[in-house]
Amino acid sequence: METVTPPEQTTVQSLSKRLKHATREQHERVDHAIMALRPFDDLEGYARFLRVQYGFQQRGLPCYRDPRLADWISDLTLRCRYAAVVRDCQDLGVEVEQQAETKPTGALLSEAASHLLGWLYVNEGSNLGAAFLFKRAAELGLSASYGARHLAPSDDGRGLHWRHFTQQLDAIALSEADIAQAVAGAKEAFAYVEAQARSLVR
Ligand code: HEM
Repeated sequence: METVTPPEQTTVQSLSKRLKHATREQHERVDHAIMALRPFDDLEGYARFLRVQYGFQQRGLPCYRDPRLADWISDLTLRCRYAAVVRDCQDLGVEVEQQAETKPTGALLSEAASHLLGWLYVNEGSNLGAAFLFKRAAELGLSASYGARHLAPSDDGRGLHWRHFTQQLDAIALSEADIAQAVAGAKEAFAYVEAQARSLVR
């Protein structure tokens, strides 16, 4: 009997999966660099961690203010955790240079929208992984209303919030060149966090 060969399967991987795989090792390095700050030993350690988180949210602000990204991600501005991390710093008396809400920050990052998408992926993903950090912060007496606001889950729950993001991200029509730029953006974001964390290790 003649055997029927199934048509060749072409698996087109979603952007979120491609970004995840392209940055797996970098995520591991960031995990280690963050934990090397001993963020949950005491409030001093947590303050070191908070500085890293502040720097990352501040640097990532252009993603949340970009009208091109807002066309793709419907709840973009609501996702921004900059104000939350500023309040966490105020709670704990961690002094940081605040970014005026109206000041344009686009010059800090590449203007390419796909590059910003890579940064946005890393920022949103860091909230998914924050469940563990939030639990550890609670051991220091920190919560969604004091000191750990930026680590708190959103009202719709962490998993759903992330899925809603990746669904929108994966629905964007991008060329291979755009995807390469998104990957470069995500790598840059991870490298930024790692460098910040390493600079604060005592
Ligand atoms: C600012 C630092 C961090 C950044 C930028 C970051 C970034 C990310 C990203 C992008 C993802 C999503 C991966 C995906 O596509 O599924 C993720 C998930 C995750 N991260 Fe992190 N991360 C950070 C710190 C940490 C730390 C310190 C830990 C633990 C020691 C951690 C644990 C996790 C875990 C467990 C997940 C998977 C969560 C799940 O699938 O439910 N992350 N993180």
